[in-house]
Amino acid sequence: FLIRHISGPNTRMGNHQRPPYFFYCHMLRRVVRQSKFRHVFGQAVRNDQCYDDIRVSRVTWDSSFCAVNPKFVAIIIDASGGGAFLVLPLQKTGRIDKVYPTVCGHTGPVLDIDWCPHNDHVIASGSEDCTVMVWQIPENGLENPLSEPVVVLEGHSKRVGIVSWHPTARNVLLSAGCDNQIVIWNVGTGEAMINLEDMHPDVIFSVSWSRNGSLLCTACKDKKVRVIDPRKKKVVAEKDKAHEGARPMRAIFLADGNIFTTGFSRMSERQLALWKTDNMDEPICVQEMDSSNGVLLPFYDPDTSVVYLCGKGDSSIRYFEITDEAPFVHYLNTFSTKEPQRGMGYMPKRGLDVNKCEIARFYKLHERKCEPIIMTVPRKSDLFQDDLYPDTAGPDPALEAEEWFAGKNGGPILISLKDGYASTKNRDLKVVKTKNVLETKPATKAENIPTVPKHVSTPQPSVVSVNHVICMDRVILQDRRIARLEEQVAKVAM
Ligand SMILES: *[C@@H]1O[C@H](CO)[C@@H](O)[C@H](O)[C@H]1NC(C)=O
Repeated sequence: FLIRHISGPNTRMGNHQRPPYFFYCHMLRRVVRQSKFRHVFGQAVRNDQCYDDIRVSRVTWDSSFCAVNPKFVAIIIDASGGGAFLVLPLQKTGRIDKVYPTVCGHTGPVLDIDWCPHNDHVIASGSEDCTVMVWQIPENGLENPLSEPVVVLEGHSKRVGIVSWHPTARNVLLSAGCDNQIVIWNVGTGEAMINLEDMHPDVIFSVSWSRNGSLLCTACKDKKVRVIDPRKKKVVAEKDKAHEGARPMRAIFLADGNIFTTGFSRMSERQLALWKTDNMDEPICVQEMDSSNGVLLPFYDPDTSVVYLCGKGDSSIRYFEITDEAPFVHYLNTFSTKEPQRGMGYMPKRGLDVNKCEIARFYKLHERKCEPIIMTVPRKSDLFQDDLYPDTAGPDPALEAEEWFAGKNGGPILISLKDGYASTKNRDLKVVKTKNVLETKPATKAENIPTVPKHVSTPQPSVVSVNHVICMDRVILQDRRIARLEEQVAKVAM
């Protein structure tokens, strides 16, 4: 087959290397292409700007273990006898004390965390204890351990490995569990609104919302990539053996509606591929990379169309620009260091320093520390570089949860980064429980959405303040803890 070697651009940085790199695509020619991202370079921050002495989780699960927003970095850590993650204000660098308070309400290890894109103080977590919890972080971070979530979302029968907020609708949260189900919650009411239970016969490796959140794409252990309309509960496109190898795949939606995947070939080489959803028979392009065995986690910037691939256990970040010209996925460069990465956080665009022409920032997890890595486009001018910073997704949601569940769509509300991003004030997450989901099976169909009060600013009998919810959940949580302990005792006694 047609295979040829291309080399990455020359760079001044000593910590770049040119990996052997092969691709087979529709068109093959030497790639000499104009791109403003060809000279993007990565740089780790100074030692004193790292977060030190952190016991990064060693749980066996291929999530990123780290979530970042313009205010906080959250890191899943090892915790004896439960599950916990750290939430550090970004400026809280240096050595983190052993007794620094954690978010510690789960009774099993935390597997995935995700910051709400519409509220920088709200984070969701999924755990081995089969629950999803949503947390409100105080304005300046934690002063005491936080064990009481704003709401507990119960419905999965096995561990919950993936949590992901809807990109444009307020309070819509998705979770995927090892029970092979996807549940979509209205966090504002605590209800499981959509349950996709018969679509995946095996473990779901990844779930990604489309740009406006009307569709999902998933990668599953059965080697299929599926495009799903969650509100119609329909698989609208799928590809069997998107990658033929048995090792885990990842699939993400790009802004233009195409799908980008990573996985393994039959010969266990790592691959990336690009797909059109209207015909998934053949990929637009497949490229082979190397034969390492870490899962390639993709991080995508829809504004610049750059994809960064971070292999779990690798010590490098490789990045590519996606265009509609062959070979479609253009290798840009590799940032390498000596230390392997346990996980990786990715800052949303609005959290970057536009004055330094920073186009991406990663939070690399080592065994015992978190090290920010800054990707920069070298430019001489100090002026705002419009071409590097098209308007980007801001923090305001386009829709309320009820509108989205009723069938409405909305693209992200864009903001300019011209004068930098000033983060908004801490808003409390309000939860109005219409029904105690903890007592009922999540069988609510999208078709019969219960009417719930949309705005909670005016006091109504059914409206409970966050504090009341916390109290209510504390009781429920304690009941559940007792029930679990009883179960364990019963097992031991058997
Ligand atoms: C949302 O995205 C879908 C395809 O991904 C598109 O067909 C639809 O027009 C979009 N709707 C809005 C309101 O942006």
